[in-house]
Amino acid sequence: MTAHPVIRDERPGDAAAIHTLTAEAFAPMPYSDGTEAPIVDALRAEGDLTLSLVAVAGEDGIVGHVAFSPVRIDGRHGGWYGLGPLSVRPGHQRRGIGSRLVRDGLTRLRGMGAKGCALIGDPAYYGRFGFEGDRGLAYRGIAPAYVQQRALDGGTVSGTLAFASAFEKAGGD
Ligand SMILES: CC(C)(COP(=O)(O)OP(=O)(O)OC[C@H]1O[C@@H](n2cnc3c(N)ncnc32)[C@H](O)[C@@H]1OP(=O)(O)O)[C@@H](O)C(=O)NCCC(=O)NCCS
Repeated sequence: MTAHPVIRDERPGDAAAIHTLTAEAFAPMPYSDGTEAPIVDALRAEGDLTLSLVAVAGEDGIVGHVAFSPVRIDGRHGGWYGLGPLSVRPGHQRRGIGSRLVRDGLTRLRGMGAKGCALIGDPAYYGRFGFEGDRGLAYRGIAPAYVQQRALDGGTVSGTLAFASAFEKAGGD
């Protein structure tokens, strides 16, 4: 039985474990293009890793990670951030670690004065955290239900979404 994971900020020295974990989590996913782990590295290198939380489970080490980075809506940052990539190591999934990372991250973002959070993802998963699709955000050719947002301070937003350059250079989210 592994220990109940502790959620904490990424620290110097965590980058390699986060890369490995992200690659492992996305490898079986049919929608993965294999860019997720390099995207986390690029966000960090480009100074866009606004918030990077890890879940640490005793001697298993880092078993979960979530990244938040600035986004623009119609070219304006406006205090909005993007969620992702979100990864939980296979074998540790379905124990609530992903949910804790998302909820803690949103709490931290709100504490930083963020206006809201956007992501591309499955509404069946992210709806439980208050994210809504079909609210007027557009991203490339993605179906509007998958372009989701959660207001943290103020109202929802509409317009064309753009992620940090690490995502855009990789060809999407
Ligand atoms: C998605 C992910 C981060 C969830 O982490 P987790 O720790 O397993 O999640 P939790 O234990 O908090 O929640 C699990 C619940 O989410 C559901 N869930 C997980 N992935 C889902 C998905 N893609 N769509 C809908 N529901 C999903 C499970 O059914 C489960 O619900 P249940 O317990 O009611 O059956 C993890 O499965 C993962 O790393 N996946 C591979 C990488 C990935 O796809 N990241 C997200 C890309 S948008």
